[in-house]
Amino acid sequence: MATRLNVTSEPCNRVDNETPALGASWHAVLTSDELGDEPVRVELLGEPWMLARLDGDVVAFHDRCPHRNAPLSIGTICGTQLQCAYHGWMFDADGACTEIPSLGPDATIPSRAAARRAGGVAEAYGLVWISPETPLFDLPAFDEWDDDSFDNARNEPRETPASVGQLIDNFLDATHLRTVHAGTFGVDDGGYLPPSEIVRDGWSAHTTFEVQYKNFDDPLVETGEHPLVQPQRLYKEIAGPTTAVVRLYHPMTDKTVSFLFACSPTNNDSTRVFKLMSRNDLTDPAAQLPALLDFEDRVLDEDLVVLEAYDDMAVNTELRDEVSVRSDRLSVAYRRILAELVAHRSSRETALDSTMAPAS
Ligand code: FES
Ligand code: FE
Repeated sequence: MATRLNVTSEPCNRVDNETPALGASWHAVLTSDELGDEPVRVELLGEPWMLARLDGDVVAFHDRCPHRNAPLSIGTICGTQLQCAYHGWMFDADGACTEIPSLGPDATIPSRAAARRAGGVAEAYGLVWISPETPLFDLPAFDEWDDDSFDNARNEPRETPASVGQLIDNFLDATHLRTVHAGTFGVDDGGYLPPSEIVRDGWSAHTTFEVQYKNFDDPLVETGEHPLVQPQRLYKEIAGPTTAVVRLYHPMTDKTVSFLFACSPTNNDSTRVFKLMSRNDLTDPAAQLPALLDFEDRVLDEDLVVLEAYDDMAVNTELRDEVSVRSDRLSVAYRRILAELVAHRSSRETALDSTMAPAS
């Protein structure tokens, strides 16, 4: 007999790293290099997941064997199949059980003897992505990564107690640059941020700010032909609840530096931050990129000093609880999107099959 449950109990004004409404979104969890020939366990939204390459295809199963809950991540890859380490049940790339050794070769496999697959798994931009449930929207677009006129680099993934909501909110914000980033690129220009239009597009939103920036990367600064402080067109995009795209366009050099920030909500104590950089201003990428990546680590360090000092890492989506001003309109849009994700989930009915596999 099937039991139907209404999922309506989730609080709607606070989003943290274990908020179930984030489950229908893409999250980067590993670099492609980190997923080799062995299964890998990751934690996402406080739940364990197993990733593996089965005959080249990346699969993601909940890290619990349907038989007796052994972690599938300690299993063995056998070509196109994964074998559980405990009793040897075999699973194909769809999660279907193909063999139960104790039943013999001609056994009928119970249909419920299946590993629970993620709603989506993908590999893009050198990262492995999971959506625990069927994703509500596409993978974030970061076209520069596959553009031959751009050079790519990635900082080492960082672990932080700051939440994904805090981090994405920070990456979208353009009014902390002169204060938090005074030690790197911030300009003490008084802080005025001209109004910019927020464009909402489904579960995404973006805007372009006009700011001032210390352009250490412009070679004409050293010769005195260009000033160090230059205008910058700063495009910021909410690309899902845990991903942001940021593009820095410098009119004086006609060059672009783009970032993809993908934050993996591990659990309420930890977030994993992937920071990808793609830029078309380099003359000798191999020589220049190490120092540029080091600079980007220092920029992230500056943000984390503030974010990790919070005593509550959740993002409050009740707009009346915080004081927002005109220059915060993109982060207000972010809070609205988070609140809408929570409301979308809360309005659904989830059917759960409460029957157990028949005893053998
Ligand atoms: Fe996996 Fe028994 S727990 S086969
Ligand atoms: Fe910042």
